[in-house]
Amino acid sequence: MTVTPPAFPTARPRRTRQSAAIRGLVRENTLSTDDLIWPIFVRDGEGVEEPVPSMPGVVRRSVDKIVEAAREAADLGIPAICLFPYTDPALKTEDCAEAWNPNNLSNRATRAIKVAVPEIAVMTDVALDPYNINGHDGFVVDGQILNDETVEALVKQALSQAEAGADIIGPSDMMDGRIGAIRDALETNGHSDVMLLSYAAKYASAFYGPFRDAVGASGALKGDKTTYQMDPANSDEALRLVARDISEGADMVMVKPGMPYLDICRRVKDRFGVPTYAYQVSGEYAMIMGAAQNGWIDGDKAMVESLMAFKRAGCDGILTYFAPAVARKLNAR
Ligand code: PBG
Repeated sequence: MTVTPPAFPTARPRRTRQSAAIRGLVRENTLSTDDLIWPIFVRDGEGVEEPVPSMPGVVRRSVDKIVEAAREAADLGIPAICLFPYTDPALKTEDCAEAWNPNNLSNRATRAIKVAVPEIAVMTDVALDPYNINGHDGFVVDGQILNDETVEALVKQALSQAEAGADIIGPSDMMDGRIGAIRDALETNGHSDVMLLSYAAKYASAFYGPFRDAVGASGALKGDKTTYQMDPANSDEALRLVARDISEGADMVMVKPGMPYLDICRRVKDRFGVPTYAYQVSGEYAMIMGAAQNGWIDGDKAMVESLMAFKRAGCDGILTYFAPAVARKLNAR
């Protein structure tokens, strides 16, 4: 902007803050139910809603309860839900074959939702960690993560999700070359409409801790994920990864975690102008809920403020565990 603002008292910025009506009139960003993707945890059984202790208010649901949750989400105006399976430890193996079992938990939940609540978009997660005996997103041999062998497995996993009816596939594994390989496989197997939302800039973060509890991967994980997830010190690298994933066929891209990486959201949106999402991850949710439960912050206000920050940073939408709570609040206005 080249206009120099006039000096006080000609300019009194408080004039445009004087009432709710005027603040609404000059507001630059809005948060809407259209911006929300709700991540939910699936487990086996029937009629089960099991609390996740490190994520107050979040539960793991059996497939029948997942369908109810999808109905509720659709009625609230939430456009998409994202499924994460809590896999029975007995099904975790070194070859991770449960990941592409057409009848695994994630695929059963997808099918059930597509029958009962066809209007909601179902997003699924591509990565081996829920099925891997060592908790990693890729195959591990002699302490090394095998990239190319993992990509072959991820392709099988993605195809099984597309067959089950997933609308959006979200590779969260951070292997190189997986977007192109999955895109090719979708094209050649009659799934050209299935969207890829790439976890393009996914950082090796301490904020994933509660999620690993929720999917039962915390105890399993050996070591850390720093050889495939990004170094929190890097920013230019995120732009290179986003460029690569778009060129390989990603329809949408994600930055993850969210709140500590708003600068990355803004750079990605400005540079590429593609649909850009942030994942407000489990640890971010837990921080807000934990502080709110202790009476240290107003949880409702912190929720809305944190989500608005993503819009201000240029995001088109947010994956957030707050989705139903904030949708209820938005709808009540
Ligand atoms: C793993 C995956 C993770 C999350 C989504 N997919 C955790 C990890 O990389 O260890 C984290 C989401 C959250 O913390 O809410 N494929």
